[in-house]
Amino acid sequence: DNYLSSERTAFHFQPERNWMNDPNGPMFYKGYYHIFYQYNPDAAVWGNITWAHSVSKDLVHWHPLNLALVPDHWYDAEGVWSGSATVLPDGKPVILYTGSSNESVQLQNMAVPEDLSDPLLRKWVKVPQNPMLVPPPSIGYTDFRDPTTAWLESDGLWRISIGAKEGTTGLALVYKTSDFLDWTLQNKFLHKVAGTGMWECVDFYPVSLTGKTGLDTSKVQVNQLVKYVLKASLDDNKHDYYTVGVYSTDFLPDDPTKDIGLGLRYDYGKFYASKTFYDPVQERRILWGWVNESDSELDDIKKGWASVQTIPRTLVLDNHTGSNLLQWPIHELESLRGDKVVKQDILLDGGAMVKVDGASGSQLDIEVTFKYPDVHKLDVLPEQKEYVCSQGGAAERGVFGPFGLLVLAANNLVEQTAVYFYLTLRPNGKWVTTVCSDQSRSSLAKGIDRTVYGITIDKPPTDNFLSLRLIVDHSIVETFVQQGIACITSRVYPTIAIERDAHVFLFNNGNESITMQTLQVWQMSSTY
Ligand code: FRU
Repeated sequence: DNYLSSERTAFHFQPERNWMNDPNGPMFYKGYYHIFYQYNPDAAVWGNITWAHSVSKDLVHWHPLNLALVPDHWYDAEGVWSGSATVLPDGKPVILYTGSSNESVQLQNMAVPEDLSDPLLRKWVKVPQNPMLVPPPSIGYTDFRDPTTAWLESDGLWRISIGAKEGTTGLALVYKTSDFLDWTLQNKFLHKVAGTGMWECVDFYPVSLTGKTGLDTSKVQVNQLVKYVLKASLDDNKHDYYTVGVYSTDFLPDDPTKDIGLGLRYDYGKFYASKTFYDPVQERRILWGWVNESDSELDDIKKGWASVQTIPRTLVLDNHTGSNLLQWPIHELESLRGDKVVKQDILLDGGAMVKVDGASGSQLDIEVTFKYPDVHKLDVLPEQKEYVCSQGGAAERGVFGPFGLLVLAANNLVEQTAVYFYLTLRPNGKWVTTVCSDQSRSSLAKGIDRTVYGITIDKPPTDNFLSLRLIVDHSIVETFVQQGIACITSRVYPTIAIERDAHVFLFNNGNESITMQTLQVWQMSSTY
C-alpha cells in the first residue's frame, strides 16, 4: 500500500485530512478569497458534516482556518449542509445553508460574520430567526436543500433558489425577500424537468453575450445583452448539468433539447455539486467543483483523506455559439509553472508511440495541439458508427485516432492514463470529434472505478487544429478540450508510475498519420 501516500495532490485544494465534499459559499472579502466546504472533522468518510473554511490571496495558495459552522442547534443537529454566500451591496456577507435537523428535516438557515472588520471572517453567528425556511407543502422533508447565492432584481427584492423534487420531477423553487429575514415562496418555479429526480446545489447566474467580463448577482442586470445559466446537480446520476436561456419570472432554456439532464455538463468525468461566484477584483465568474475518489472507502480510510476540489475555473459564455460555456483554469495557476519542455512538429504514423523526454513527473501542466487531419483525402470512407469511449478505449484502432497523450505512464506502459481524440464520420457526411479519458489501465491496484469518460463535439475546429490542456496532479487529471469547450476530470491511482517513473507519451493508434504541432509540458511546484 506504499503508493497510497503519493496519491495526495500537490496543488489542488484539499484539507490536511478527512472527508470533504461540496464547495460552499465561495466569495471575495476585503482582500481574501474564501472557500468553505462540506467537511467531516472525524473521519475520511461522509458524516458529521460541518463547514470548514480556508482563505487565499491568489486562489492557489490556501490557509486553513477553524471550522466556520458546526452542528450546534436543533435545526442543524444532523449536519450543516450545503449553501452559498451573498455579498450585499454594502459589502456585508451573508451565508445561507441547509441544516439537517434533529429529526432529519431539511431547513434553511442564515449565518452572519461576528466581526466585519476581520478580513478572514473567522467567526460566524447563526441568527436567532433560524430556521428561516421549512419545506413547503408539496415538498418532502428531505427534498429541500442547498440555497443559492441571492440575486437582486429591479423591484428591489432579492431572490434565492432552492433545489427540490416532486415525485421524479426535479425543480428549483424561488423565494423572495427584502431583508433576508421575511421570505415569500413564489408560486412559479424557477424551472423544473420531469424525470430528473432531486436537484442538488442549484446555481443560477447571468453571463455576458458580448464579452468575457463576469456579472455580479448582487447588482440589478440592466444590460439586455445577457443570458442566464441554470445548473443543477442530479442526485440520481451525480452529474452537473447546465442550460443557457432567458429569465423573466421563470427561466426558459433557449434549446429545450439541451435542458437540465439532457444536454450539457460542466464536466464529463468525475465532478459534482459545483458552485460559482463573482470575483469583483478581476471581474470574472469562477467555478469550483468537488471531485470524489474512484478508489475504495477502505483505501480512503488508509490514506486518511477523501476528495479534492478542481482547480478553480473561469467561466464565460462562448460568444461564437451563445449556447455553451467555456471553462479555463484561473490564470494564477500558471505561477506554479517551472521547468518546461517544448516539442514541435512530430509526425505520428499509425501505431506510433513516442516518449516525451524530460517531461516525466506527477505534477504537470500540459498544452498540446494536433493538426486537424485532411479528412477529405480518404479514398475509402470509414464505417459510419458512433464511437463510444467506454467501448473502444485507447487500444481500439480507427482511421483518425485514437491519437493523443499518455500521462502517469510507466516505461513498460503497464500503467497509463490515455487522453485522446477519435474522429468519426456521421451518416450526414459530417465529421465529429470525440475526446476520451481512459482510466482502464491507469493503475495496477484493485478495487478502483476505471470508467472511461468521453464527450463528442459536433463542430469541427474553426482553426484547423485540435487542442488539449491537461493538469496532472498525482491522483487527478483535469482535461480541457479546445480552449475549454468541454472538460473531463478523472481520478487515477498509479502504483508504479509515480514522480520520475511517471512518463508522458504521444501516441497514434489510428491508421492515418497525425501531426503533433506543439507540445509544452511544465513541471508544477507544490502549494502545501
Ligand atoms: C451534494 C449534497 C448536498 C447536501 C450535501 C450534504 O453532494 O448531497 O445536496 O447539502 O451534499 O453533505
